[in-house]
Amino acid sequence: MNIKGILLTCFCTFFHFSTSESTSCGQTIIADNGTITYKLADNYDAGELCVFMIKFESGYIDTTFNLDTHGLSNSDSDAVTVFGSFFGLTLAANLGHNQQSVTLTGFGAVVIFRTNSSSGTGFQLSFKPNRIRFPGIYDGTYAVFDNNTLSPLNIPANDTGESLYNYFVFTSGSRLISEPDTFFRLTAKVNFENPDNKCSNGFHVYSFVDELQLEKSICERVDDGVVFEFSTRGLFFVYQDQDGFLPPVSGVITWETDTLIS
Ligand SMILES: *[C@@H]1O[C@H](CO)[C@@H](O)[C@H](O)[C@H]1NC(C)=O
Ligand SMILES: *[C@@H]1O[C@H](CO)[C@@H](O)[C@H](O)[C@H]1NC(C)=O
Ligand SMILES: *[C@@H]1O[C@H](CO)[C@@H](O)[C@H](O)[C@H]1NC(C)=O
Ligand SMILES: *[C@@H]1O[C@H](CO)[C@@H](O)[C@H](O)[C@H]1NC(C)=O
Repeated sequence: MNIKGILLTCFCTFFHFSTSESTSCGQTIIADNGTITYKLADNYDAGELCVFMIKFESGYIDTTFNLDTHGLSNSDSDAVTVFGSFFGLTLAANLGHNQQSVTLTGFGAVVIFRTNSSSGTGFQLSFKPNRIRFPGIYDGTYAVFDNNTLSPLNIPANDTGESLYNYFVFTSGSRLISEPDTFFRLTAKVNFENPDNKCSNGFHVYSFVDELQLEKSICERVDDGVVFEFSTRGLFFVYQDQDGFLPPVSGVITWETDTLIS
């Protein structure tokens, strides 16, 4: 599958958001303002790890996220984590009982809903722009891949002379893994046509269980063509940046939920 194929084969949907519908795990919203509504009147399950991606339509924007309403239980008191996207992800806030609103500046945002218990109901989160700091379209795809989506993802070198910023999330059924012998695994390999050590071209692999953790930046000469393998009970986030002034890179990402047979 190449990057063009993502739009056709990814289980997520890209759409201009309309307010009244509920949002499903893995959806990407392309808009400056909108609403995420998830299990508002329904009990959520324990161990949910549900991701929503937002790409702003108008560029680099100052945006306020507001948790309009929620039924989170005490053991899921701050279950809605909001990251701003700005050359990778930056934690904005954990929203819930203690905090209901946060302002961030970015090209987009990633929202993760992570639950410990099954004793609460979902939420409605809305976002709207305060100010467009830098208008313009920034090339890049925001997509969530599930373990039911066909692996691998092939990323072709794209020599347009433009910079490109891709945000990819990989999940194991939008759930935390609790089975003792099971892990979610990801491999990533990057081919640098003409490697330099600037690290402005490459893949940055993160895992998330309780918080975002950098696993590896694959961007140096010594990383060329090496297959790196990662393992988590949560999800993976891969940020790919391509500097328009450097030779573009290509790469392959594979993922699967893996049970060890003892
Ligand atoms: C988003 O903003 C536009 C223009 O300001 C407005 O017409 C629209 O109702 C807003 N949508 C939402 C979901 O807030
Ligand atoms: C869920 O439990 C973990 C510890 O097991 C805790 O660190 C975290 O804050 C809890 N999450 C929420 C959303 O309350
Ligand atoms: C290549 O880059 C252009 C502009 O940077 C972008 O619009 C296009 O989607 C990219 N294509 C692929 C296959 O990555
Ligand atoms: C995907 O992950 C879920 C939850 O971790 C698991 O139950 C399911 O068997 C996995 N599916 C595949 C095809 O690996």
